[in-house]
Amino acid sequence: MAVQTRGTDILADESREHRGRMIELLTKAYWMEIETVMSYISCSINPDGVRAQEIKESLAEDIEEELGHAKLFANRIKELYGVVPGSSSFSAEQNSLQPPAEQTDVVHVIRGVIEAETGAIEHYTSIVDEADGIDWVTQDMVIDILHDEQRHRRLFEGFLREYEAEGLA
Ligand SMILES: [Fe+2]
Ligand SMILES: [Fe+2]
Repeated sequence: MAVQTRGTDILADESREHRGRMIELLTKAYWMEIETVMSYISCSINPDGVRAQEIKESLAEDIEEELGHAKLFANRIKELYGVVPGSSSFSAEQNSLQPPAEQTDVVHVIRGVIEAETGAIEHYTSIVDEADGIDWVTQDMVIDILHDEQRHRRLFEGFLREYEAEGLA
């Protein structure tokens, strides 16, 4: 595949189909980031208890980072001659990040974050694959974002490990 597409100019007329595919993938990524911003706002405010503080602070910092990702995806959509969608085409998917029944249930939040980050890692890995040989700039940008998501997941896996070690998860 990479051989056939060598020298592809993603902005050229004949790359219309490739661009369409990239825009589709980037749009999904954009919505994932927007939903993550919403979820991390609620998860950085709702939890109660001494142990929740570390999680809340960490998520509060991540909001800015996820918002930055959303902007990067939006800008790339524009650069590829696409249109950043309006809010009416948004549909929520992050079931695991809805507030728990009890706001002291920090494990619910940690598991939800791990699931959301895993979803992002899977989708961004597929963008990196599909962009190969077709759109190097998107690929390069998404590799950086993928690195951020791996870092986020690793941090929350560490939080979960602590709860598991104490028999709380
Ligand atoms: Fe992100
Ligand atoms: Fe993330």
